[in-house]
Amino acid sequence: MKMMKADELALAGGKPAVTLKCPRWPVSGRQELVWMEKVVRSGKWSWLGPHERAFCEEYARFIGSKYCVCLANGTVTIQCALQAVGMKPGDEVIVPGLTWVATAQAALDIGANVVLVDIDPETLCIDPAAIEKAITRKTKAIIPVHLYGCMCDMDAIMKIAHRHKLKVVEDVAHQHGSRWRNRGAGAIGNAGSFSFQQSKPLTCGEGGAVTCNDKAVYDTIFALKQVGWGPDGKPANRYGHNYSMTEMQAVLLRGGLQRLTRQIALREDNAQCLAAGLQKIGGPLRAVRRDPRITRQAYYAMTFVFDPSLADGVTKAEYAKALAAEGCAMGGTYAAVYKNSLLNLYDTTSPVPFRDRKTIQNYRALKLPNVEKAVNETALVMSHPQLLGTRGYMTQWVQAIAKVNDHLGQVKALCRKQADGKKGQSDKC
Ligand SMILES: Cc1ncc(COP(=O)(O)O)c(C=O)c1O
Repeated sequence: MKMMKADELALAGGKPAVTLKCPRWPVSGRQELVWMEKVVRSGKWSWLGPHERAFCEEYARFIGSKYCVCLANGTVTIQCALQAVGMKPGDEVIVPGLTWVATAQAALDIGANVVLVDIDPETLCIDPAAIEKAITRKTKAIIPVHLYGCMCDMDAIMKIAHRHKLKVVEDVAHQHGSRWRNRGAGAIGNAGSFSFQQSKPLTCGEGGAVTCNDKAVYDTIFALKQVGWGPDGKPANRYGHNYSMTEMQAVLLRGGLQRLTRQIALREDNAQCLAAGLQKIGGPLRAVRRDPRITRQAYYAMTFVFDPSLADGVTKAEYAKALAAEGCAMGGTYAAVYKNSLLNLYDTTSPVPFRDRKTIQNYRALKLPNVEKAVNETALVMSHPQLLGTRGYMTQWVQAIAKVNDHLGQVKALCRKQADGKKGQSDKC
């Protein structure tokens, strides 16, 4: 029988360096089961029941906003928030070129013209200088997306917004609980949009919420998601839809919220431990630098920078492949929004073709250098359940990364050989 050497790459058939496991996601507790049974028996399953009301209060307190309203998902939250802050069809909204495609789609679907701009190469979040350059007479709003494990520069963004009288709708789908100078992400701009979809650090399967500090914005969002009815149960004279959530979802959110502060602290601790470990071993991979103005970083994913100039010719994809074999599965980023195949403006279900094409930024010709470099060459992310692992698990990650760093030449040779093998097979077909 072949003996596996501890330092032999898993990619070459060696033993993976990571043997411990991280918790499975999502996590649930006994409290949700007790509440859920009561909800089922109560017959009050929707229409702003006691759990939804309680969650809205609890979540607003957690974020530090005056109001919170629950919706069906984190896409309609963006639509309703933009409409509530006054966006009209034909207005321009500035969106980062790197985000989940829904950020842009939500704005397009309410008739806004989405202007995509470049990101900060370190944080992967929207670059304030790029926002400033993209402002025109038609610009009405900015959507800063607090992406993966970094917050946007909210000082610079709020300054620009005040100077140009623009509204700010924060997309906080990734950062339930981050704080910028002790202010909660989602309570800094005019509105904050949250997603509670299955993969998110606070989840009820599908769902969303908007936080805000302005009663008029709150009332409008409520009417837009509740078929035109206001929070007082009276008609609000708005053209609304049904974007409500159920009591069962609210139960899951209330249970999750009870664990969230502890989970954020554990992830933050583990992220710092990993960052320090990587700094010690050196090599092509490092944790992204943390902005000292972030007083609490909640992670949907931890962001890493891969430096190809330190990788002996190994590409980001090859490096990630070698790490995955060692038991450290890391992800790449989303596709650039303007290249995302889901953003098909000319599909017949898209409302975009019914507007003047000349007014829309030409996505096909767009090239945002920092977005492209991050997507193709430098950015890697580690998902939040992995950051809930033990200290031993983190240590194994650092050991695995060190092992791959020590064998870069072999990683390159093995990956190229496998790629050539696959090419040879497809050439035969
Ligand atoms: C940054 C960002 N914005 C918006 C959304 C949309 O949220 P949902 O899937 O709940 O509609 C997501 C979801 O993954 C997201 O990651």
